[in-house]
Amino acid sequence: MALAVLSHIDVRPVEHRVSDAERAERMTNPGFGKVFTEHMVTVRYVEGKGWERGELKPYGPLLLDPAASVLHYGQAIFEGFKAYYQADGSVKTFRPFANAQRFNRSAERLAMPALPEEIFVEAADALIREDRAWVPAAIGESLYLRPLMIATEAALGVRPSKEYLFVLFASPAGAYFSGGVKPVTVWISEDYVRAAPGGTGFAKCAGNYAASLLAQKQAQAEGCDQVVWLDAIHRKYIEEMGGMNIFFVYQEGGRSVVVTPELTGSLLPGVTRLSILELARELGFGAEERKVTVDEWDAALKEGRMTEAFACGTAAVITPIGRVKSKAGEWLVNRGATGPVAEQLREALLNLQHGVTADTHGWMHDVC
Ligand code: COI
Repeated sequence: MALAVLSHIDVRPVEHRVSDAERAERMTNPGFGKVFTEHMVTVRYVEGKGWERGELKPYGPLLLDPAASVLHYGQAIFEGFKAYYQADGSVKTFRPFANAQRFNRSAERLAMPALPEEIFVEAADALIREDRAWVPAAIGESLYLRPLMIATEAALGVRPSKEYLFVLFASPAGAYFSGGVKPVTVWISEDYVRAAPGGTGFAKCAGNYAASLLAQKQAQAEGCDQVVWLDAIHRKYIEEMGGMNIFFVYQEGGRSVVVTPELTGSLLPGVTRLSILELARELGFGAEERKVTVDEWDAALKEGRMTEAFACGTAAVITPIGRVKSKAGEWLVNRGATGPVAEQLREALLNLQHGVTADTHGWMHDVC
């Protein structure tokens, strides 16, 4: 088998590919994160030597020493971004450098080494090229890329590891929530917080998600789909919904204004969040980043000043919020239905990502 050599990555593909029929079957209704493509990329880091050449190889389990420090002290970060089939038949990724930069901000917070952005993006390009047949063509479907970094040194002292592994794999993705794009019901978490000032809230580290799961269970026990997180100090400012950023739509002076909580250090700076703020302005909406309290959410809805709420992220794009529950009571948003602003923003974003409308921002990265 020919060995293709890219600038940072050696390509060693599988000997025998999955048949077209089997791939088509696995790609039917892929849901989210359940089907994986045939290859992955790994790059090792050793302190004093830096990042080694990467390798694109068959997808499969990793071999880890039981003393690998990620298993004990949790130095683990990840990212998520997507490759989209374009109207002209090519494949492009959405803002991969923004994810590479956030990956390095997460790495810094967890005392892990930075990965050069060009290696991050080259790894994704090489994987997508190799597994191009796994990129779904339908609008709203995509190939989800999952880069991660873990501490691999076998050492039980509590200190930063001296060895790391970067891994990138891919998964054909349809709707994130099993109900498709339907409004979700959220539970306002008063018993748990996701992140505190000085903590790791802005980093995409595994521990943030582990710590969220009990609150998510509680939300489900209350008949809700997702948790809404409040700030750790005052317990009144809304921060995020589950693993996603949150937006509110207000009516002010005859136009819609989208408002999202400002980045305080305890929120994840979402790439979709940032893109929506820009797209909203282009569509003629107002767009603001500021604090919003739970009481304001309730009051603004009752007064008719607020008409919609939705969450956004790479995985689910835009998810409307239809009902809000807390220990104090519950209320409906937009009578429980998807609102026109969420709908319009979702369509604008998906059309841009699939090349149906022109990419005037330079957000799309050519792959193959
Ligand atoms: C996203 O919205 O893309 C997320 O980060 C959720 C992900 C962890 C599945």
